[in-house]
Amino acid sequence: MLWDFKAKFYDKGRNSFFLSWILRKENEVVTQLLPSNILEERRILDVGTGTGNIPSLLINPQITIGIDISYGMLQRAKSNHRNLFVINCNIVKIPLAIGVIDVVFCVGVLEYFSDFKTLFSEISQVLQNDGLFYLTYSQKNLPNFLRNILGEKIHFVQENEIIQELQSYGFQLVKKNKTFIQTQLLFRRGI
Ligand SMILES: C[S@@+](CC[C@H](N)C(=O)[O-])C[C@H]1O[C@@H](n2cnc3c(N)ncnc32)[C@H](O)[C@@H]1O
Repeated sequence: MLWDFKAKFYDKGRNSFFLSWILRKENEVVTQLLPSNILEERRILDVGTGTGNIPSLLINPQITIGIDISYGMLQRAKSNHRNLFVINCNIVKIPLAIGVIDVVFCVGVLEYFSDFKTLFSEISQVLQNDGLFYLTYSQKNLPNFLRNILGEKIHFVQENEIIQELQSYGFQLVKKNKTFIQTQLLFRRGI
């Protein structure tokens, strides 16, 4: 599988000058929109965790679960974070009980995955009322068109479609930010 192949050099690639600059900017937004005190002692789910970039930003969570379709990615994630619980599954069927999660992250995934309606339905099941959902998508711009030309196969979604679909599950958009190749949206349910 492509992501298992990518897992072998994913972290190394991201350490290159340009990609590490992009990642640093994106990670700064996570800590701006979700300061560590909001995340403290929370039950966190990272959907499409890859090698565990999001878990590396968390300070003192109660529990962090990373799910990913790629076993290779999860092996890396686990070796990067010993305390991370990992589940090897497709995000269209998240094997967790109803309402057990406080904060869900889904970062850098939506552009590789077209069925966002099923994903949002699954997330709304596992997230508790009043929970937070941090979601990113790739906006239509020149760098993202270039990624497509370079073979990344980026799916573009309309932000208003995302917002409408999540509103149907009781989510409201509370914060938003944009970086070079990514738009970050923070939703809260039940306000
Ligand atoms: C670009 S990486 C992002 C990794 C991580 N969230 C980050 O920000 O560094 C996308 C990840 O989504 C995972 N993924 C893609 N489609 C998936 C699916 N249907 N179910 C579970 N994971 C999926 C891939 O295996 C990959 O690890």
